[in-house]
Amino acid sequence: MNAEEQLNMEPAEEIKNNQHSAPDKNAAAGGELVVDIKGLHKEFENKTVLKDINLTVAKGESLVIMGKSGTGKSVLIKCIVRLLDADKGSINILGKEITSLNDKELNDMRKRIGFLFQSAALYDSMTVRENLEFPLRDLKKDKAELDTKVKEALENVGLGEAIDKMPAELSGGMRKRVGLARTLILQPELILFDEPNTGLDPITTREISHLIVDLQKKSQSSSIVITHDAVCAKIIGNRIMIIDEGVCVAEGTYEELEHSENKWVRSFFSQAV
Ligand SMILES: Nc1ncnc2c1ncn2[C@@H]1O[C@H](COP(=O)(O)OP(=O)(O)OP(=O)(O)O)[C@@H](O)[C@H]1O
Ligand SMILES: [Mg+2]
Repeated sequence: MNAEEQLNMEPAEEIKNNQHSAPDKNAAAGGELVVDIKGLHKEFENKTVLKDINLTVAKGESLVIMGKSGTGKSVLIKCIVRLLDADKGSINILGKEITSLNDKELNDMRKRIGFLFQSAALYDSMTVRENLEFPLRDLKKDKAELDTKVKEALENVGLGEAIDKMPAELSGGMRKRVGLARTLILQPELILFDEPNTGLDPITTREISHLIVDLQKKSQSSSIVITHDAVCAKIIGNRIMIIDEGVCVAEGTYEELEHSENKWVRSFFSQAV
């Protein structure tokens, strides 16, 4: 298992709770910063991917990051958890400078962050229950406690009945929900979602996006969500940032960017209804 897989906890379907809530547009107002990135620069063999990224996420806020394929969105969130090392800049996460943590501190910090990587998948040889128990393996919980936690996490995503199924028996949307439950089971303070809706149909994309908003409100966590999907951005984002050629080129609420004077910026939102 590689480092990404070890850190990775991914998503899965079926929304019983149809009371979809909108993100709190005031979540960011004057709040404490959970993420504060300044001057982030990252290059690979002289190919500069991120030139000068500056961004903040306040407690309870969801920041959506959009941008063309290959602009460094995944690289950016990998730098946040130090799966990749930034070349320059400061990355303050939950009050700590991530670039200067030692291994133990980094490990402790990663326990406070939930990851949902683009390539994320469930462990196919494990049942749903075992997939959810996996992140809890170091916590030395007794069996009854473990069972309660796993059941609660699955109920939260409307999939209580899937506990003993194998991933292959689930639909793509259900797998996303199981992955989401697995990410949230450690109650992370910050969640990084890289394309949470990849491969899903438009209706399931909406359902998963609303589920993310609902669960995030419940847990009062903050998030960074990378997506190409305007509907997902509209549902989840308190604020949206577009990156291009290594820098942030536009930032604002969905409504602001959707009506931007810049046609290229507007084009990101043209498919949303
Ligand atoms: N570990 C690595 N080593 C070398 N180059 C890398 C590495 N990771 C990413 N890159 C390069 O960095 C650039 C940005 O990649 P990244 O995966 O962040 O793009 P992205 O914006 O997430 O794209 P997409 O929307 O397609 O997911 C690409 O050119 C990629 O080839
Ligand atoms: Mg990517």
